[in-house]
Amino acid sequence: MPAYAATETLNQLQKNYPEYRYKEAVLNPTNPRDRTADWEADVVNQFRQHEAVREIVGERPSLTGRSLYIAKPIQITNGACLQCHSVAAAAPPTMLKIYGAANGFGWKHNEIVGAQVVSVPMEVPLAHADRAFTAFMASLAGVFVVVFIVLNIMLSWLIVRPIRRMSLAADGISTGDFNQPEFSEKGDDEVAVLGSSFNRMRRSLEKAMQMIDE
Ligand code: HEC
Repeated sequence: MPAYAATETLNQLQKNYPEYRYKEAVLNPTNPRDRTADWEADVVNQFRQHEAVREIVGERPSLTGRSLYIAKPIQITNGACLQCHSVAAAAPPTMLKIYGAANGFGWKHNEIVGAQVVSVPMEVPLAHADRAFTAFMASLAGVFVVVFIVLNIMLSWLIVRPIRRMSLAADGISTGDFNQPEFSEKGDDEVAVLGSSFNRMRRSLEKAMQMIDE
């Protein structure tokens, strides 16, 4: 019964995740719907041969392309399960009426009777990975654009603008116009040093011109 509940609940879930498939694949099932396909029987037999293996993940070809699956063993660890799954005589008559007495019996305590298998077409995880990659690249590009813009603004503000002002002032002075304002560059970075050198050069030049004029 827990298996039935799980299968039905997952059928509901499938409305939201239609590409995912869930199956309780059992070698000798009560409901023929749950019978193992060939490849599922291989997986179940691997679990039966190696009890330590608790999970198998694999890829296989399917009708709609490659498909990814994850499987976990179904082991009968609870004695109460055997009431309905050991011998037909012990099972409730209503169950026999629906499912018959031919299959779904003969399960043993601690036996691995099947596997829970979730499978999804390979395109789905690949599309997820693709989307994650695109988002990552887009955010990387975004960060680059922001850094580029900020660098440009800083470059223009801290270096290009003061140098352009100096160049204009030098142009003015070269044509004898000494009315240029002094640079009041503060700090000790290269641009400020250049500004004060420029101021000094201008004053010397101004004095030299005055001396020539006198
Ligand atoms: C009251 C009877 C009853 C009990 C107790 C019971 N089951 Fe079942 N089980 C069924 C029936 C009926 C089905 C078929 C349900 C369906 O139509 O999918 C089933 C289906 C299953 C299936 C799916 C494969 C198949 O045979 O169709 C698994 C696995 C399963 N049972 C495991 C268990 C386990 C494990 C326990 C104990 C925890 C358990 N069952 C207890 C009646 C029972």
